[in-house]
Amino acid sequence: MDTLVIEGGTPLEGKIRVHGSKNAALPILAATILAAGEHRIEGVPDLLDIRVMLKILSELGIGSRHHDHVVDLDSRIITTSKVPESLMGQMRSSIMLMGPLLARMGEAVLYRPGGCAIGSRRIDLHLDGLKKMGAEIVEREGVMYCKALKLVGTKIVLDYPSVGATENIMMAATLAKGTTRIVNAAREPEIIDLQNFLNKMGARVVGAGSNEITIEGVERLHGASHRVIPDRIVAGTLLSAAAITGGDVALCGVNPSHMEAIADVFLRSGVEIRCSNDIMRIIGTSRPKAVDKVTTSPHPGFPTDMQPQLMAYLSIAEGTSIINETVFDGRFRHVSELERMGAQIYIDYHTAIIRGTSRLSGARVEATDLRAGASLILAGLAAEGKTFIEQVHHIDRGYENVDQMLTKLGARIYRRSEIYKAN
Ligand code: UD1
Repeated sequence: MDTLVIEGGTPLEGKIRVHGSKNAALPILAATILAAGEHRIEGVPDLLDIRVMLKILSELGIGSRHHDHVVDLDSRIITTSKVPESLMGQMRSSIMLMGPLLARMGEAVLYRPGGCAIGSRRIDLHLDGLKKMGAEIVEREGVMYCKALKLVGTKIVLDYPSVGATENIMMAATLAKGTTRIVNAAREPEIIDLQNFLNKMGARVVGAGSNEITIEGVERLHGASHRVIPDRIVAGTLLSAAAITGGDVALCGVNPSHMEAIADVFLRSGVEIRCSNDIMRIIGTSRPKAVDKVTTSPHPGFPTDMQPQLMAYLSIAEGTSIINETVFDGRFRHVSELERMGAQIYIDYHTAIIRGTSRLSGARVEATDLRAGASLILAGLAAEGKTFIEQVHHIDRGYENVDQMLTKLGARIYRRSEIYKAN
């Protein structure tokens, strides 16, 4: 496993292009199962989770080629509806294959999905929604056997606006008989991107971005081309990197309207943000001000995927800040690592109270999950001395060449591979 070594204290400066969204690309790639055709998806980042998704599609018979952020896929023939257990366990998004496989093949055999350890991460809303559309799902010894001769459109009210459940049901409903209404749907920008791709394939989906999505089932879908939206969490992380180092960075190729809740909190802390078209420039301040209270919630609220990064930032703010995590029940694993670097954070159930300190110091820490790892990079960029971050593979799941990205902005960061360490 690689280690990231960071020598903190350099304000980041310059311009950087933000890569495409992993969380938009994953369901879009899964959606190609729905149509017998050829597809071209652009703006797909080269990340581990994307590689796993393409590997699963290839096991199902869908060949693909990923080059320069473009993925060409051929889904004309699908040879099996069984997803291998070893691949299924490698990421949470593998559950996204259930809806498309059921819709196209009438059956699917899957295992419980893996993914970041940030809480209980149930899949009941996925299963209940698909069952309501007529799927039979039986689970025996961790294997989920799913069958549906023909899915039938219906009204599905989600207890919680789950991103994954909304996407899974949306995809399944495109080939169902009749109309499906998803009430209390998730409203994330990635859902709108999926709707746009599904409609390019000939689906009839409206309402994404609002809390009610309507899908009129069609007989068949066809191949399509699409460019995925920029990654708002990567953009938010780079914004945090500029802010925590008191730097001046222009993010290019972003959609500022996807980032309003993030920008709002950083503006409250005293940074300057200037937006024009797809460019967002962040000008840091000498020391951020604490923010009274930030609560994570589904879009358009403050994203849980930015909570650890915000916590690292607020740990050097002047004053005391409060973060309330409402989306995941186990998403404070970065706290003990940040504390090793001098952060002063007190946890009370789902609430973190962060007493800002003027100085963090480099330490040896561990990335326990993707965004926890991102928060440690930020802390390392601001800290005095050297920070060593282990378990970097978690970070590589969501940031393409994170070390190179930050080096371009002047950060002193490098990757030490296992082979090098052994010598
Ligand atoms: C997606 C994102 C992830 C982000 C999350 C919330 C992808 C690939 N991942 O994950 O980065 O952190 O949205 O913005 O897009 N829940 C249930 N039952 C279910 C499904 C979810 O109780 O069937 C709960 C979860 O345990 C969690 C909450 O709902 O507490 C949010 O989960 P969900 O919105 O489904 O997140 P994901 O789609 O897994």
